[in-house]
Amino acid sequence: MELAMMPLGYLAQAALAALLLSLTMLNPPLSSPSAAKLLNASSCDGSGNTCIFNMTYGGSTIAANLSQDTFTLANDSVSSYTFGCLQKTTGNSVPPQGLLGLGRGPLSLLSQTQDLYQSTFSYCLPNFRSANFSGSLRLGPVGQPVRIKYTPLLKNPRRPSLYFVNLIGIRVGNKVVDIPPSAIAFNPTTGGGTIIDSGTVFTRLVEPAYVTVRDEFRRRVKVANVTSLGGFDTCYTVPIVAPTITFLFTNMNVTLPQDNLLIHSTAGSITCLAMASAPDNVNSVLNVIANMQQQNHRILFDVPNSRLGVARELCT
Ligand SMILES: *[C@@H]1O[C@H](CO)[C@@H](O)[C@H](O)[C@H]1NC(C)=O
Ligand SMILES: *[C@@H]1O[C@H](CO)[C@@H](O)[C@H](O)[C@H]1NC(C)=O
Ligand SMILES: *[C@@H]1O[C@H](CO)[C@@H](O)[C@H](O)[C@H]1NC(C)=O
Ligand SMILES: *[C@@H]1O[C@H](CO)[C@@H](O)[C@H](O)[C@H]1NC(C)=O
Ligand SMILES: *[C@@H]1O[C@H](CO)[C@@H](O)[C@H](O)[C@H]1NC(C)=O
Ligand SMILES: *[C@@H]1O[C@H](CO)[C@@H](O)[C@H](O)[C@H]1NC(C)=O
Ligand SMILES: *[C@@H]1O[C@H](CO)[C@@H](O)[C@H](O)[C@H]1NC(C)=O
Repeated sequence: MELAMMPLGYLAQAALAALLLSLTMLNPPLSSPSAAKLLNASSCDGSGNTCIFNMTYGGSTIAANLSQDTFTLANDSVSSYTFGCLQKTTGNSVPPQGLLGLGRGPLSLLSQTQDLYQSTFSYCLPNFRSANFSGSLRLGPVGQPVRIKYTPLLKNPRRPSLYFVNLIGIRVGNKVVDIPPSAIAFNPTTGGGTIIDSGTVFTRLVEPAYVTVRDEFRRRVKVANVTSLGGFDTCYTVPIVAPTITFLFTNMNVTLPQDNLLIHSTAGSITCLAMASAPDNVNSVLNVIANMQQQNHRILFDVPNSRLGVARELCT
């Protein structure tokens, strides 16, 4: 089952996972006791018709009514689909259209459609400046690419809803840089490691890993005047030739071309390396390969076979 992606003006927000979907409100919202429990929903009234839950997503918090209805995606129908009907959103990580949960959590789209899609899906995210915006989300094992490179998909008990992979090194140009192994090691105790995430815009690397990559990147660009812009610390006011950056995973290397590495200011006069170090919070141990770095690649999540596939695909 394939869905075309619609333009949402999304890249200002961390919301590439959001797609426009037809949600048919056939019945009044019902609450599901098990979902209510998972979400710590409160104030479910006596009739069970209203349950409100709060949730954080990125920098946003949402208050939503727990709802259940038939969910129609192209030709497929999912009955008793549990979702949150947004009531109030603060922050800008959640776009007004809402979010489609593609993670491994118990209430994600994939978890609720096991029979239909067997926790298998792929997407190709077009360049965020694309006029055509011809990305796609393909749900289910049918029609998935055959020629694709795989790396094992891992599950980290500390962050069970995320898709972990084993990053073993990073190459800048032709040089494998010297990253302290602990910065990228998969760690089920701390929840550290590397995830592939469509809901984050720019790749964040654990600080020592980022600094190593950045320094080698700067060395190869050979333009002395490095400036910063917003959250980016490696920006240039003159045109540059950037080295490629290659993520080395178990059994799979992915080399990113310039389009996946550089972001240009809207005025066009500043070019930045579109990566940063991990935030100084609970996520400081997490490397996140984000959607800017996934553009024009097909990313295949094959959960039953515990593998993640990546193939270059121009969805423009
Ligand atoms: C629900 O509450 C439990 C216990 O306080 C907590 O561990 C869990 O993270 C909460 N779940 C959500 C989705 O907030
Ligand atoms: C959600 O947050 C609001 C505002 O902070 C609070 O008043 C309300 O009690 C919370 N509801 C739940 C179910 O936690
Ligand atoms: C959500 O629940 C509140 C409180 O019961 C209600 O006032 C509101 O209309 C509901 N919103 C939606 C979108 O169903
Ligand atoms: C939906 O079904 C129709 C009729 O069988 C078919 O032509 C169409 O391609 C299907 N759409 C999708 C997205 O599978
Ligand atoms: C957009 O799509 C049309 C038709 O498929 C194609 O001719 C055109 O070259 C595309 N434009 C870009 C910028 O990719
Ligand atoms: C370096 O970049 C800054 C910031 O854009 C600019 O003001 C300055 O003129 C540049 N210096 C040189 C030597 O190019
Ligand atoms: C990935 O690149 C590294 C370093 O260049 C190389 O040693 C390794 O064999 C490559 N692995 C694969 C699966 O191509």
